[in-house]
Amino acid sequence: MVKLALAKGRLEEEAFSFLKGCGYTFKEATERSLVVEDLKGTMQIFIVKPLDVPTYVFSGIADVGICGTDSIVESQLKLIQPMKLPFGKSRMVLAGFEGFKPKNGVLSVATKFPVSTKMYFDAKKLDVKIIKLHGSVELAPLVGLAELIVDIVQTGRTLKENGLSILDEIYPISAIVTLNEVSYRTKRDEILNFLESLSRGMKG
Ligand code: PRP
Repeated sequence: MVKLALAKGRLEEEAFSFLKGCGYTFKEATERSLVVEDLKGTMQIFIVKPLDVPTYVFSGIADVGICGTDSIVESQLKLIQPMKLPFGKSRMVLAGFEGFKPKNGVLSVATKFPVSTKMYFDAKKLDVKIIKLHGSVELAPLVGLAELIVDIVQTGRTLKENGLSILDEIYPISAIVTLNEVSYRTKRDEILNFLESLSRGMKG
């Protein structure tokens, strides 16, 4: 049985419909179920917070994971990433008020993604104050908590409706598959079958 950690929220619905399209059928589960199994007993899915997917895979509790590129970057864990999936497309961006001009002193940047933010500003050799938030990041520049934000943009609605603009693109995001290295050796056939079923699903 392949154990799969799946990011709950944004990706979850698309991931389940993709897996169904790959031929998997699932046992009845409630909205609050955290473990979902397929009818043939070949797969067990753990529903976890996106940023926890790499942790479950790295520890080997899950053999494989499905999450966004952002979760892998933020985890700073070295994980095998054999496959991009055709959903969960979005972008990590720097955003703020249109025509933003930095004042003297250290820039303040609010984000749910401190690792991505640090990488971006380190590459530009800019010292910034990173303010870690857990959500509604777009509020920060509106109320003066931070000058800029680093956040995920999917449709662009949240930025637009709050009067903010994309100032720079940091990296593209899609749903991806990650693998635990030990599982890949010890459960190779099962994992290869799983990956093949995903490849077939992408073609079909
Ligand atoms: C994400 C992200 C943006 C929004 C972008 O937040 O952090 O706020 O979605 O989507 P859009 O471009 O389609 O508007 P999420 O909805 O996960 O909620 P949160 O702010 O509570 O984290």
